[in-house]
Amino acid sequence: MSEAFESPAASRRTVLCGAAAVLAAGGAVAVTGCASSGSGSSSSGSGSAGSAKGGLKDPVVVGPAADIPVGGGKVFREQKVVVTQPSPGTYEAFSAVCTHAGCVVDKVENQLIKCPCHGSTFNATTGARVEGPAPTGLPQYQAEVQGTDIKVSPRSSS
Ligand code: FES
Repeated sequence: MSEAFESPAASRRTVLCGAAAVLAAGGAVAVTGCASSGSGSSSSGSGSAGSAKGGLKDPVVVGPAADIPVGGGKVFREQKVVVTQPSPGTYEAFSAVCTHAGCVVDKVENQLIKCPCHGSTFNATTGARVEGPAPTGLPQYQAEVQGTDIKVSPRSSS
């Protein structure tokens, strides 16, 4: 009598996808893809997530170059960037996120970038770790003067 259930596989897939869609519409996002036919395609994540470790992704103008003292530096907390000026007219920029536990460094003193959390210090010219529990130095960015401001960009390593 009923020959409507001819292709159980196809109709089962349709039902599952439909259920997933209903779940998704209901707010429970648990869909894993009932897109096109066959062969499971699970994306392996070579996308646009970009720079490793959540660092700076796009160039940012942090502020006036005149705010960066010679022989010192300034932390831009909002941008999580620290800019130093080891010698007049030479600017260096680093991630302000400590490589130990992720605190934002808070000052530059005596040619050292200092983390307030556990005392790690970094060389203000190179970003290299000097002491403390930080396992590595601070990732370095590119700093350049743009007009009267400092522009900081991710390093393009190619
Ligand atoms: S987070 Fe900077 S020293 Fe621990």
